[in-house]
Amino acid sequence: MEMNGSQPRENWGSKLAFIMAAAGSAIGLGNIWAFPTNAAANGGGAFLVVYLICVVLIGAPVMLAEFAIGRATQRNPVGAFKALAPKSGWKYLGGLGVVAGVVILSFYAVIAGWTVSYIFKCLAGTFKPGVDTAAIFEQMSGDPLNAIGYLAAFMALSVYVVVGGVRQGIERWTKVLMPILLVLLVLLGIRAVTLSGAGAGLAFYLKPDFSLINGKVILSAAGQAFFSLSLGMGTMITYGSYIAKKDDLVSSTLWVSTLDTAIAILAGLIIFPTLFHAGLGLQEGGPGMVFVVLTSLLGEMPPAPLGGIIFGTGFFLLLGIAAITSSVSLLEVGVAYIVDERKISRKKAGLFLGGLAFLLGIPSALGNGAVSWLTNLPVIGTDFLSFLFEVFGQYALAIGALFISIFVGWKWGVTNAAAEVELEGNAFRFHQIWSFLIKFVCPTVLIVILLNKVWTLIFGRGLI
Ligand code: PFF
Repeated sequence: MEMNGSQPRENWGSKLAFIMAAAGSAIGLGNIWAFPTNAAANGGGAFLVVYLICVVLIGAPVMLAEFAIGRATQRNPVGAFKALAPKSGWKYLGGLGVVAGVVILSFYAVIAGWTVSYIFKCLAGTFKPGVDTAAIFEQMSGDPLNAIGYLAAFMALSVYVVVGGVRQGIERWTKVLMPILLVLLVLLGIRAVTLSGAGAGLAFYLKPDFSLINGKVILSAAGQAFFSLSLGMGTMITYGSYIAKKDDLVSSTLWVSTLDTAIAILAGLIIFPTLFHAGLGLQEGGPGMVFVVLTSLLGEMPPAPLGGIIFGTGFFLLLGIAAITSSVSLLEVGVAYIVDERKISRKKAGLFLGGLAFLLGIPSALGNGAVSWLTNLPVIGTDFLSFLFEVFGQYALAIGALFISIFVGWKWGVTNAAAEVELEGNAFRFHQIWSFLIKFVCPTVLIVILLNKVWTLIFGRGLI
């Protein structure tokens, strides 16, 4: 057990347990809900290619950087930056992470709440062949009591798991259930790609039209990579703070990013063929897209009607669990901060931040049909949830990742980070490449795409 001052710090039970927990944080609604929605809005195949490049060139390097910061300091993000750069402004970068965690959790729990409500709909055999899945979604998300009730239920569950502590709370869930989710996704994928008309969906998704790549696509792909890999807000710093010194950080990074990316790619292989098969338009984007598309596949799962019920219930149940392992990691950042820095109990910290995220989640819950101005925000033009997702789920994480790469590359230094990676005789594979990526490539790419966004906001069109 590691020591932090006089307080013992809990460790993950084993390296495998750590990888599963970090993968549990990474794999969630980001892969299955956000990835296809973003890909649909950004050119399909073109988005996929840029996304993969972002994962390799900036996502994985930043993940390793976060693990190293966390394990070196054994602290929450705010404490970690304070420890490595005392009396400097870097601690505010940790603070940004705490805020982003609570805001992301607020809308994340709304979507997770929908997932829970869909478990019951599937069990009841709602998704028969030919049903209007868009109308079912609108009715569910437009009912204010339903939306807020499921949000509250999901938030309560997340708080319950976080308050249970690191080992019992998080570890136990992920080990068994994530492999089952993977099997279920593969089976749904096989059915989707064999549907009539699947070819057009596959072409949209897998045949990139490179002329569609521009600054917006690159920023969305980078933001999506950070969201999906749980980077840019200190989640992996926090999780890294519980890793044993003997564990190999490089292979953990490779495992987590590969698993996460594989699940996102699979989700696309399910959604796009089904979308084209069902004749649903790409323009039906927005937060409901995946719910509408996926449920239209259920009527096609053999043997009817049992196949649809079994696959649907299993899918939404496992997705709900994947969402819990992610939402607890969103909450954990702020809880670790309050527990470490403010010396308040885990229970109080969890209840306080969970309550805050619940209140913040209400406008997102009501912005999908229940309250019209929240469904179509004045000036902004999207619903409240999509707005928060863009600002906090994508830009704040990209900004966070930018500063984390600058911090590790130029302030703390790649040599110190490498020494942490090489502790207890671990070899640092890709040392030179990683140093180059974290010092030069990550900051440059992120500065360019963020400046391009600012340019677009001011002048109406981007430079790239
Ligand atoms: N990575 C999670 C997902 O893909 O669903 C969401 C997430 C969790 C984002 C934790 C950020 C984070 F810090």
